[in-house]
Parts: sequence; structure tokens; C-alpha cells
Amino acid sequence: MTQDVQLHDKVFELYLSEGYIQERVKDIAEGINRDFSGKDPVFVSILNGSFLFAADLIRYLNFQCQIEFVKAASYEAMQSTGEVKTLIGFNQAVEGRPIVIIEDIIDTGRTIKQLMNDLTKYNPESVHVATLTLKREALIESFDPDYVGFEVPNVFIVGYGLDYDQLGRNLKGIYKLKDQ
Ligand code: IMP
Ligand code: MG
Repeated sequence: MTQDVQLHDKVFELYLSEGYIQERVKDIAEGINRDFSGKDPVFVSILNGSFLFAADLIRYLNFQCQIEFVKAASYEAMQSTGEVKTLIGFNQAVEGRPIVIIEDIIDTGRTIKQLMNDLTKYNPESVHVATLTLKREALIESFDPDYVGFEVPNVFIVGYGLDYDQLGRNLKGIYKLKDQ
């Protein structure tokens, strides 16, 4: 039985299974439970890619919490456009409170750096980052997110929220471009 998936013109093969992803999401939630319980953080999920990760992650938290959704896109098809457009759909009172950003993937790091910078303007107590995946080799400046699900090599991946030209987000596992 093949686990390959065709999206547009490309074929992707299974890379991280649904069960493995869920275990890592639980691990991240445990860390956040330990570090933020009682601290009244605001979670900021970066749309569109982090919607599934955010949905699963907050259901593993053991404290009441608020979540806000922000849209930021810098990618067209498979290449970073280099320009980060941040659309802040942000209207929480975060002054003096910790923010935890929920991201699907950090590639060059441009998006996350810009977002952290934008969110600082709301005078939060702190800004932490939970990312499902990190392409450390692709970072343009070194950056250590507080919580990382998986470090992945510089390959193109889809699934569990991540897309290739808007397709593939609903895959339960994460798939990588075949023969890359
Ligand atoms: P950065 O600003 O270069 O770090 O890009 C981050 C954004 O690029 C992510 O939020 C994704 O939307 C997109 N991206 C980067 N790598 C991939 C990938 O392998 N698959 C799908 N989207 C990706
Ligand atoms: Mg994204």
C-alpha cells in the first residue's frame, strides 16, 4: 500500500506519522503546562498553517486560556518571497501578560522575527514561541524557539496544516516532497 499523495504536480511521501505528531504535540503541551500554568498567557496562532497544531495543542493544556488568530504570509508556492506581510487581526489585552506564539514551521525565520517584533508593541510581559517544525539549516539568523516539535532538514513538507499551494493541509501526517 502506497502512502504517497499527489498535490497539484508533485508527489509527496509520508515523513511523520499522525501518532508520532500527536506524541510530540503532547510533549510540547506538557512543557507549556509546566511553564505557563497560573501565568495567564495569551496564545497567538499564526494562520493558516498552525490551525491544526493550535487546535490540538490547546486541548492538551490543563489550564484555562485565551487564543487569538493572526494572519501572516510570506510564502508563495515553494519559495519564500522574502517579503513578510503581517496582518495583525489582534485585539487581545496583552499588556503585562505572556504571549506564546503557535507556528507551524520556521523556515528562514523572517516571519517569526517580524511577528515577535510586532507583538512587542502591545507591551506583553514576554513573547515565547512554540513551533511544530523548525528548518534550522534554512534560518538566516540563528534563532532558538522555546518549544519545537520536530527539526526537519531543508525539504519541502506538507500536511497537518502545512500546504503546497493551498492543498495538503488536511493530511493527518506530514509528508515530504518525494525524491528531493
Ligand atoms: P519563514 O518566514 O521563511 O520562516 O517562512 C515561514 C512560512 O513559510 C511558514 O509559516 C509556511 O507558511 C511557509 N513554509 C516554509 N517552509 C515550508 C514547507 O516546507 N512547507 C510548507 N510551507 C512552508
Ligand atoms: Mg504559515
